[in-house]
Parts: sequence; structure tokens; C-alpha cells
Amino acid sequence: MKYKVLVTRRLPERALDVIRAECDTELNPHDRVLTRGELIEGVKGKDGLLCLLTDTIDAEAMDAGKNLKIIANYAVGFNNIDVVSATKRGIAVTNTPGVLTETTADMAWALMFAVARRVAESDKFLRAGKFKGWGPMMFLGSDIYGSNLGIIGMGRIGSATARRAAGFSMKVLYANPKRVDEKLENELKARFVSLEELLRESDFVSIHVPLTKETTHLIGERELRMMKKTAYLINTARGPIVDEKALVRALKEGIIAGAGLDVYEEEPKVAPGLADLDNAVLCPHIASATVATRTKMAVMAAENLVAMLKGRRPPNIVNPEVLEGKR
Ligand code: GLV
Ligand code: GLV
Repeated sequence: MKYKVLVTRRLPERALDVIRAECDTELNPHDRVLTRGELIEGVKGKDGLLCLLTDTIDAEAMDAGKNLKIIANYAVGFNNIDVVSATKRGIAVTNTPGVLTETTADMAWALMFAVARRVAESDKFLRAGKFKGWGPMMFLGSDIYGSNLGIIGMGRIGSATARRAAGFSMKVLYANPKRVDEKLENELKARFVSLEELLRESDFVSIHVPLTKETTHLIGERELRMMKKTAYLINTARGPIVDEKALVRALKEGIIAGAGLDVYEEEPKVAPGLADLDNAVLCPHIASATVATRTKMAVMAAENLVAMLKGRRPPNIVNPEVLEGKR
């Protein structure tokens, strides 16, 4: 008997092949997020679920999917899944760490460059037919080379973002729940500081913490006011880590110089006024979006899913407690 699986959005074929080889696969036929109703209906009778960060998998969804053994998230962040409820029900939860680290770090840098050198803004200007010739005071921005980079959250992605700073002779500061090991600190030439010191001294502040209760609105009005007026905020992590309304005010009033954002508090919505600001570069949550990385993430999610259903340990399980006593 084949396992029954729901895949909530079309994925690269290589990943679907991995699943189809072992499972009866129901695939979201639409090129959009499943509605709540479709999701609840879809998980009924399924042994496995492969879902996205845009799917909210809470206790209600798990109770609808009474046979679920695994929820494989196609993302490294898994704040969309109620892991406590999954663990209580003995359902394994997996994510896709590692494979998107460098791709996401590249994106943090893309946003730094785009906002500091006004790439999006000046591109818009040219396309609007406003370029009448070189101007000595046209689109003056800020240097990245030689500036201070503040990394909030020195995990995999934070470290990868910091590593790139060596090529630009930047000083690296980092804030983290705990100091990272000396070898990594030396390699990255990174100085461990308090969040406050980081905010006061950095020219670029880049966020790389997961979204949890503790990190929700970690950056609010108070923190934005600690930053230099000439500094930029970069967020490729999760929107709710930043108080987006406070950020809009700070960008409008010149409390900070600019922001490069890939994530928002209430995706796909952005805070009122944000899209009117020229000192914000706004990308639609694409930090891991390269062909190679999205393929790796999909295959990884598929392999986690199949492993659990076949009685093996899923390589990227985030709640290994559920395996205790089972294998
Ligand atoms: C994307 O945001 C991810 O968490 O993988
Ligand atoms: C996520 O991959 C992180 O640890 O930064």
C-alpha cells in the first residue's frame, strides 16, 4: 500500500519524482496558496504533508489530518507550523537548513548594495525617461567598502553574510544569544557586542534570527532610534522581527537612511506608506530563489517526507522527541 501525501504547491519535478516513487501524491493544481478550506480538506486521510511557509499548519489542520506522520516544510524557517502541537500528536516536523544559506546571504548583500547605491530608485528614474545626462550630485549614496556591518543572529546565514564582508574591508559586529566559538569569531573577524552597541555602531544592520516570541518586534522604534541616521536596515529573515509601522516612520523622518527588505509582517501586504518610500528597496520574499537552491530545498523536503514514511529518521527533523521509542 502506498502512502498518501499532500503537496501544497507545485515544486521542481526532481522533488516530485522522489515523492511519487513512494507515495500517492495529491498536488495543489493551482498556482497559488491553498485556501484554509482546501488545506483542511486536503490533509484528510494523508500520511504526509509537504507544505510551504505560506501554509499555516496549526492544531486544527493536524486534527483534520489524523493520519499525518510528517509535516515537511519547504523552508528553513518553520514559524508557520505549531511544532508543540505536532510533537504532542507524534507528528515529525522537518525543515531545509543549510542548502539556502549562501543564496540567502547573497540576497542580504544584494539588498545592501541596492539600497546604499540606490540601484532600484535610479533604475526607475532612467526608465521614466528622466536621465538627461551625468550629474555631479545625482543619486549620491553611501559606501559599503570600509563600513561597519552589524549581524543580528550569528547562525548559518548570519555567518555566511559576515564572511563576505572581508572582501569589502568591513568591520563586523554581531549580537547573538551567545558568543560563537572562537575559531569562527577569528575567521570572520567578528566582535561580539550587545544589540545596543551593534545598533549604535553599524552602518548596515542585517537580521538573521528565526522568528519566535522573543524575536517578534526585536527591532522597534526604540532600536531604530539607536541606529545612526546614516545607517541601513536589511531584513531577509522574517517580517515580524521588525515593527514595520515604526520602520516606515523612521524611513520617512530620516531616523535611519534606508532599508532593504525581503520579508514583511503580513505578507503579501506591506505596511501603508512603505511602497511610497524611495529609501526602501522591497523584494517579494525571494532570498532563497535561485534555480539551484530551490531545487535542493525541494528535494530535501521530499527526502525528509519519504524517510519518515518509510520508517527512517528524517535527516532534518526539528522535533526528534517524536522518534523516541519508535526507532
Ligand atoms: C524562507 O524564507 C525560508 O525560511 O526558507
Ligand atoms: C538558518 O539557516 C540559520 O541558522 O541562519
